[in-house]
Amino acid sequence: MADLGCWPGSWLEVAGRVVGPRGRVVGIDLRPLDRPIDLPNVFAFEGDLCESADLERLRSELGKRADVVLCDASPKRTGVRVVDRAREAALLEAVEKALDALLSPGGSLLLKLLDAPEALSAERRLRRRFASARVLRLRATRRGSRERYLLARGFRPAEAGPAGESGPGKATTGRDREESP
Ligand SMILES: C[S@@+](CC[C@H](N)C(=O)[O-])C[C@H]1O[C@@H](n2cnc3c(N)ncnc32)[C@H](O)[C@@H]1O
Repeated sequence: MADLGCWPGSWLEVAGRVVGPRGRVVGIDLRPLDRPIDLPNVFAFEGDLCESADLERLRSELGKRADVVLCDASPKRTGVRVVDRAREAALLEAVEKALDALLSPGGSLLLKLLDAPEALSAERRLRRRFASARVLRLRATRRGSRERYLLARGFRPAEAGPAGESGPGKATTGRDREESP
């Protein structure tokens, strides 16, 4: 499993327990973890997911393409709308581009959808790369927040042929609220 934007490490810790001793979780963040995750199957390093060399390292630390890519990354806000928007768009674009190298065919993606208007077009493009996709609001999201996540399953790598139809999946946990696309 890959965890993009993993600091401070809560998802890493849960993911490490979920994949168990035979699985591996590799995280990347601009910030180093404040404390190491005490699980032998979890590794995190300092890097920028918009940099190809850092993505290359992530891929090599994973050893093979991941079955699941988690991305909770969000750029630090500057308060300058145009800058924040450009950073968010660049981040989503980097994740989109990285998927072919990082995610196994048939794999799953959980991606935080950011506020920039570009998030909507990124979401549309991503939906076409998966057999099913839906947007969720996680139970842990605080009231009033617009935070939403795209949960997509059945990844179709670029070489797998034409973008297919996206349709509803059965991936929601029931504890998280689903939004209409
Ligand atoms: C909300 S936090 C992630 C929380 C994490 N899911 C957890 O459970 O602890 C968002 C993280 O995205 C990281 N981030 C933002 N842009 C990034 C980039 N270009 N490359 C790597 N990490 C990035 C930030 O440094 C920040 O730590």
